[in-house]
Amino acid sequence: LVQPVIIAGGSGTRLWPLSRAMYPKQFLVLQGNRSLFQQAAGRLADLACEDLTVTAPTVVGNEEHRFLVLDQLREVAGGQTAAKVLLEPSGRNTAPAMTLAALQAGEQGADPVLVVTPADQTVTDEAAFTEAVRQAVRAAAGGAFVILGIRPDRPETGFGYIRADDTGEAAHKVLQFVEKPDRATAERYLAAGSYFWNSGMFVVRASVWLRALQQFRPDIAAATQAAWAARSADASFVRPGKAEFAQIPAESVDYAVLEKCPGRADVEIRMVPLQAGWSDLGAWDAVWQVSDKDGAGNATVGDALMRDCSDTLVHATSRLVGAVGLDNVVVVETSDAVLVADRSRSQDVKHIVGELQQRS
Ligand code: GDD
Ligand code: MG
Repeated sequence: LVQPVIIAGGSGTRLWPLSRAMYPKQFLVLQGNRSLFQQAAGRLADLACEDLTVTAPTVVGNEEHRFLVLDQLREVAGGQTAAKVLLEPSGRNTAPAMTLAALQAGEQGADPVLVVTPADQTVTDEAAFTEAVRQAVRAAAGGAFVILGIRPDRPETGFGYIRADDTGEAAHKVLQFVEKPDRATAERYLAAGSYFWNSGMFVVRASVWLRALQQFRPDIAAATQAAWAARSADASFVRPGKAEFAQIPAESVDYAVLEKCPGRADVEIRMVPLQAGWSDLGAWDAVWQVSDKDGAGNATVGDALMRDCSDTLVHATSRLVGAVGLDNVVVVETSDAVLVADRSRSQDVKHIVGELQQRS
């Protein structure tokens, strides 16, 4: 039994001004006609095959986005959705979110393989994606904690890095996991050629995850269990106890558990390589990378007129944008804010959001 889980409670500050607290990036349509969240849900729905039964997804999101989650799920499902939606009163990062999904999965008395996926990525080769995840599921059914690895092409510091032992099996043994290394370390890993990026997807039996968390972070395990025990539910949503939830230490799956697993005899951690045109749409530069572009490398969304521009992204939502003579620039227009940035500085947009938060 396979239980898809979409963790969709992040805030996506580097995609300001399109991504806002009330409407963060995973719910935006950045390319094509589906939001990133809808794309994630669609990919997981295709997992079922002869030997794999797949349940309706569980979504773990933020209370503030509950109607976005429901509306967007219904839109792709043609009106109705059987998804279970777990709502967090505040973000405590991904380890508690994944734990809520595991506790919920345990309710039915089964011990499904959770396929936990972020809601902020794109994949161009869906068939290759499906095949890799199915392999991961088969390895996880046997008790392994499986992650999906991407061949790196730049010294990105926003990802986790995996060193794995290629023994010819589908699921390689993970020897080392390093979350978000500094620039010099990332450059060393890239040059070494033997490291993969962590895609952020986790494939593991609910019981195996709960045991690993209990072992490495019993504080998070206990606090999340207390919040789950105090839950309330209505027809559409399940809510962990608010006061209890606020006590949970905020930590990501990567720091709380993954970094600590390699070399331990009691947790078998494995990696399946994923070659499917994977991209994390973390910042505007990545959006430009995956967008359809004209011969000069320009991408436009909405009403834009460009003249003598190259490698530039213009995203207009409510007004016409004209651009002349721009090279490697990002322009994002919304009704109340406009961003103009050097494309190579896309990561720094988060500082503008930081300043805005201090103002208010
Ligand atoms: N429910 C919930 N609650 N979801 C959350 C929370 C939370 O508090 N915080 C983040 N998320 C969701 C985000 O919406 C996103 O879909 C996913 O969890 C991952 O969180 P990010 O904050 O985007 O993580 P990251 O990009 O810094 O790092 C992770 O992903 C990388 C690949 O994109 C790590 O797993 C890295 O190791 C990995 O390389
Ligand atoms: Mg991310």
